[in-house]
Amino acid sequence: MNSQTHSMLLVCDIDNTLTGSRSGLADLKAWLGENDHAAFAIATGRALPGTLEVIGEWNIPVPRILITAVGAEIYYSNGKTLDALRKDHEWEQHWDADWKPSEVMTALSSFPWLELQSATEQRPGKLSFFLENADRLDQVRQVLSDRGLDAQVIYSHGEFLDVLPNRASKGLAVEYVADQLNIPLEQVIAAGDSGNDFSMLEVAGLAIVVANHSDELDDKSAPSNAYFAENSYAEGVVEGLAEAKGFKES
Ligand code: GLC
Ligand code: MG
Repeated sequence: MNSQTHSMLLVCDIDNTLTGSRSGLADLKAWLGENDHAAFAIATGRALPGTLEVIGEWNIPVPRILITAVGAEIYYSNGKTLDALRKDHEWEQHWDADWKPSEVMTALSSFPWLELQSATEQRPGKLSFFLENADRLDQVRQVLSDRGLDAQVIYSHGEFLDVLPNRASKGLAVEYVADQLNIPLEQVIAAGDSGNDFSMLEVAGLAIVVANHSDELDDKSAPSNAYFAENSYAEGVVEGLAEAKGFKES
């Protein structure tokens, strides 16, 4: 990857941030075409196969960086095709040390109301469940902390519960990638719509929350730096980018 050409990083969640409006996505593509100093990244809760599928379905521009599984995995492309992705193995070593997924599973097996997501969503660094009642989140966090487990709980869309090692999240992955690219965090713009986006919105110099955001990112709980777009989906992202006056090519 040629980091010299990029003075800023735009990282977008996929579902309901890039997807949802084809005309908004076309506007975003035009923005990327006019701003080649911006490295484009996606950060998603999906595993890689589902990520590639939605990129194809929506004809999302080829990202340089793919942060998948809520930040547990990072892949790099050549910026032109998605055929020859390079996985960042160092990133996995970074979070792996104290991560004990089988102990996490045992601890959580005592909760009959936690429903495991499909096998394709379970990743080495991400265990995923469905949980409808957000009031039970504290109980989940409590049992993990009582057992001294290195694990964090991330809740999205009022139904998805992900458990990840403490050293992996979208935000931590964005910090790591920005460092790899020599791009200061002030020059990072992140856009998202739900709970698993919180951590990357928090570290970015400019955070864009699209209008169709879920409750975890309402104006009381979103990071204080966030710009709340009036538009939804990619139209909201493009609206937020227009605010990015300080992110000029340098
Ligand atoms: C995506 C993933 C799912 C995860 C959710 C929230 O939908 O497929 O496993 O729980 O994002 O992060
Ligand atoms: Mg989303």
